[in-house]
Amino acid sequence: MNDLPEKTKVGIVGGGPAGSLLAYLLHLEGIESIILELRTREHVLSRVRAGVIEYGSGEVLREAGLGDRMRREGFVHDGVNLAFADTLLHIDFKRLTGKHVIIYGQTELQKDLYDAIDGAGIILIDEADDIDLHDVDTGSPRITYIRHGVEHELICDFIAGCDGVHGTARDHVPASIQETFERLYPFVWVGLLTPTPPVNDELIYANHPDGFALCSMRNENLSRYYVQGMAEDTPDDWPDDRFWEALETRLPEQVASRLITAASIEKLVTPLRSWVSEPLRHGRLFLAGDAAHIVPPTGAKGLNLAISDVVYLARAFASYFTTGSETGLDEYSDRALARVWKAVRFSWWMTSTMHRFPGVSNDFDRRLQQTELEYLFSSEAAQKSMAENYVGLPL
Ligand code: FAD
Ligand code: DHB
Repeated sequence: MNDLPEKTKVGIVGGGPAGSLLAYLLHLEGIESIILELRTREHVLSRVRAGVIEYGSGEVLREAGLGDRMRREGFVHDGVNLAFADTLLHIDFKRLTGKHVIIYGQTELQKDLYDAIDGAGIILIDEADDIDLHDVDTGSPRITYIRHGVEHELICDFIAGCDGVHGTARDHVPASIQETFERLYPFVWVGLLTPTPPVNDELIYANHPDGFALCSMRNENLSRYYVQGMAEDTPDDWPDDRFWEALETRLPEQVASRLITAASIEKLVTPLRSWVSEPLRHGRLFLAGDAAHIVPPTGAKGLNLAISDVVYLARAFASYFTTGSETGLDEYSDRALARVWKAVRFSWWMTSTMHRFPGVSNDFDRRLQQTELEYLFSSEAAQKSMAENYVGLPL
């Protein structure tokens, strides 16, 4: 790419799910945008991340014409299972909410988004280094960046900061108006990918005295498993043998006996934290996805919040560019944050309910956690509340 564009309506910083989907939704509304991404496409596709698409996210992708491969290759799950005290509880989404979730890896969704972007002729400039934003509180914000040693400038009507948790777009919200909220959990998830059939046809989230475990999957012969580890753990602390032993111990016997183990093909350690930066707007800069908020993975909400943010943002831009009305843009931050905080609450609840908290010698807290699970296992109302949140609150 030699002649790089110098002007666009919406300059999008970050080409992960939030930035890529935003560009495509804007394209469907006839609004031109350009994506600037720090990494190569290969790098973005090499990151193994989320796997659960909420019902509403699935509808968004389907309505945008992005759902064909997801429909063919993803798995519709009508429920999940919780394991506690060697008992399995099936949370029946279909019966309780009439909805489902779709198991489809974030990597696959990202591939679909790249295909759609390329098909639509949307420009994605990768390997854009040293991105900096300027004049975001004026009518003509700019982005400067360096690509292969050459400095470039992109003049925009608006900028969308979709550059994830390590991005810098949110630094342009002045400290005087920015508020951050954080909770760090004192443990990590160790995640493992193996070329084996999943142990169960639906997900299993397990609470065990040794710690949390999760059985998930990518396809008939690719399983994704997680176990809770200590805050300071690295992948080296979890050789495959130790991982399998921990997982087997933490699952109900009827499940553990079916577990097929093999050498891992990927292993990662993910810290668990909730973090929200408010507001999501300053002048003509709008933040979306992980650039503005992180949730612990327990509720499978991170990717889905990135999707709901950009749906709201695309609607607001569409209204502005077709009618000149700024109402949607003015309301974006509050509207998105209202949904974000409900997911923060649910992720906190699932994290608190399903993990072993190290250092908690307080029998009162343990008893409360046990009671929470006993209530959930015995109350249809509690199960319905969990199901409603897991399949995703309305957009
Ligand atoms: P990202 O996917 O992070 O995309 C941001 C993009 O911006 C990246 O491509 C990055 O390269 C680019 N970028 C960064 N800095 C700059 C810059 N300065 N300039 C330009 N571009 C930049 N969610 C779940 O629901 N379930 C899970 O199991 C799960 N596991 C996860 C595991 C890990 C290790 C991580 C990090 C996240 C996980 N998540 C999970 C969260 C989920 O993957 C994210 O919520 C989702 O990727 C958010 O999409 P995004 O586009 O907002 O951010
Ligand atoms: C997966 C990840 C999650 O965080 C979760 O809650 C469920 C499934 C997964 O990687 O498949």
